[in-house]
Amino acid sequence: MENRQKICVAGDHAGFELKETVKRHLAEKGFDVHDCGAAAYDKDDDYPAFAKALSAKIAGGEYARGVLFCGTGVGASIAANRRKGVRAALCFTPEMGTLSRAHNDANVLVLGARTTPVDTSLKILDAWLNGPFEGGRHQKRIDMLDEEDR
Ligand code: RB5
Repeated sequence: MENRQKICVAGDHAGFELKETVKRHLAEKGFDVHDCGAAAYDKDDDYPAFAKALSAKIAGGEYARGVLFCGTGVGASIAANRRKGVRAALCFTPEMGTLSRAHNDANVLVLGARTTPVDTSLKILDAWLNGPFEGGRHQKRIDMLDEEDR
């Protein structure tokens, strides 16, 4: 029986090309990739739609991990992090990719297609994919994220 690791991706027009590159990279690594859109380049599409579609799948437990794209990564991060249970990390360096897993247990990686070169993006992605969560004192902080606001 096939037992490939599942991952979902999503992004707007600004992230479209990088999303397609990352999809190929993930497929080469053996991942089963689900694309939440955009299905085609459309300069008028809107990043919240795609970030919300992906974060619903993460928060609902259908996917444990996802990768989001927009021009800077900022809009997609803001949109994804509005959903409880989503820990979306906008990363610009491989070290951030590693630490977003180790300390923040980031379940969504966000990449800025207009701010980060493609080869760097793939290095960040690999660091994030390979990075284990350290737990321990960091788990307490993760738990605090989901506490009710006072
Ligand atoms: C789209 O032009 C751009 O604003 C969007 O991709 C993103 O960078 C927003 O944060």
